[in-house]
Amino acid sequence: MLTTKLPSHIKGYQETLDSFEQSMKDLQLEVLDLYLIHAPWPWSNIGQDCTQGNIESFKAMIDLYKQGRIRSIGVSNFSVKDLKAIMDATGFAPHVNQIRFYVGDTQDEIVSFCKANNILVEAYSPLATGRILNHPELLQMAEQKGVTIAQLCIKYCLQKNTLPLPKTTKKERMIENASLDFTLSEEEMKKLDHIK
Ligand SMILES: NC(=O)c1ccc[n+]([C@@H]2O[C@H](COP(=O)([O-])OP(=O)(O)OC[C@H]3O[C@@H](n4cnc5c(N)ncnc54)[C@H](OP(=O)(O)O)[C@@H]3O)[C@@H](O)[C@H]2O)c1
Repeated sequence: MLTTKLPSHIKGYQETLDSFEQSMKDLQLEVLDLYLIHAPWPWSNIGQDCTQGNIESFKAMIDLYKQGRIRSIGVSNFSVKDLKAIMDATGFAPHVNQIRFYVGDTQDEIVSFCKANNILVEAYSPLATGRILNHPELLQMAEQKGVTIAQLCIKYCLQKNTLPLPKTTKKERMIENASLDFTLSEEEMKKLDHIK
């Protein structure tokens, strides 16, 4: 599945249509699987109120979706407030919210809002960008189950009904990260819920 994003500094109806067409030209595609608003604010000015711009961008994405140019549309790094603003203005819930999510950082408020509104949570940095891979408690649990910490963390995201997006530059790790033929018990999930 191919995903691309509207750059975080581009907001507005026509600006979104233009940026989308440029991406499609660059990707040499007619139809895109998933298009996301990268963030509610420009990365250069985190926290800036861009509510109106996000609403206009999302309206453009809804039109592209209705025209069949995009199969699914969504957002990334949106809070509950950001989500409500675009949903109230358009009457349309995004299909996806791609957010930071990993063992020890589960953003419960956003996740339950997404669940209640049928919005798929994509879990980015599911390995905490690699920082979690030496955690002693995780190491102990992984060893007991005969899996790696990476597999444990990815499985945790899946059992939390999110879609994890682990990244690796190594083929063998790609295979490892997709080999998840085990289940975490309720007790193990609870233990992982409390990892700091
Ligand atoms: N929407 C957003 O704003 C946003 C923000 C951040 C990230 N993302 C997306 O989320 C995805 C992943 O996030 P991320 O790169 O931040 O972090 P991540 O997937 O949590 O961690 C990636 C790190 O883990 C290592 N790694 C992966 N598999 C491993 C394994 N099995 N064993 C040991 N080390 C392993 C990788 O190193 P090697 O390459 O050496 O294996 C890399 O250093 C990316 O596609 C990224 O584009 C989105």
